[in-house]
Amino acid sequence: MASIAKLDQPAKYWDRLFAPSSCLAMITTVDAQGRVNAASYGTCTRVHHEPVYIAFTANVGADNANNILAGSDFVVNLPRFESASLEKVRIVGLPFAPGVSELEKAGLTALPAKLVKPPRIAECPRHFECTVEWTKEWAGRLMIVGKVVAASVDADCVDADGYVIWDKVKSAHYCGAPYGGQFVAAYDKMAAAVPYDGPEVETFLARERAMFKEH
Ligand SMILES: Cc1cc2nc3c(=O)[nH]c(=O)nc-3n(C[C@H](O)[C@H](O)[C@H](O)COP(=O)(O)O)c2cc1C
Repeated sequence: MASIAKLDQPAKYWDRLFAPSSCLAMITTVDAQGRVNAASYGTCTRVHHEPVYIAFTANVGADNANNILAGSDFVVNLPRFESASLEKVRIVGLPFAPGVSELEKAGLTALPAKLVKPPRIAECPRHFECTVEWTKEWAGRLMIVGKVVAASVDADCVDADGYVIWDKVKSAHYCGAPYGGQFVAAYDKMAAAVPYDGPEVETFLARERAMFKEH
């Protein structure tokens, strides 16, 4: 693959780097022998601003879930809404046996992470290295919440203030199993006013204004 420099982002930019707040992801872990595992997720969401926490759910018994319960950190990699990338997301989501490298099967490149053992996926423009904050098993799923400890991005995908350049990162959402292998672009944006007259509006907008920068 063509090599694009990765920028390490300072913690103050991690929140704005995970945008929109829910994204299609490929997540890597390692097993006890250090073997890399990867799987695809439509359920990955940024769930806290400062510090930045990311959550997702995995099927109980899946390799990533087992690795996390055995103590692995994880890396959230956000692919682009491009057919070649989405095809690789589909391959990474196949039920390969434990120990089989999904990255090799999909023709993806492992790039060492900065602070955790699981690798980044070089072809993805954004990476969030996480330690496990908590897990909860219910309804056949394991919910995992991770604390971001490092984040990096392709150098051409953010502006000088760490805001994503939407047409470069091309965030995607998964439509979900009932729609088959379909995805939607998650970077066509519009601002919406709050046409409501109550006192709640000003408090909310003041907080939003404090965080917002036109970009
Ligand atoms: C686009 C896509 C989205 C997926 N989203 C999820 C998800 O959010 N949660 C989940 O448990 N499995 C999801 N899957 C299925 C897992 O990726 C799949 O079960 C995978 O084999 C698990 O791998 P593992 O056993 O190596 O952890 C998704 C698959 C695809 C292709």
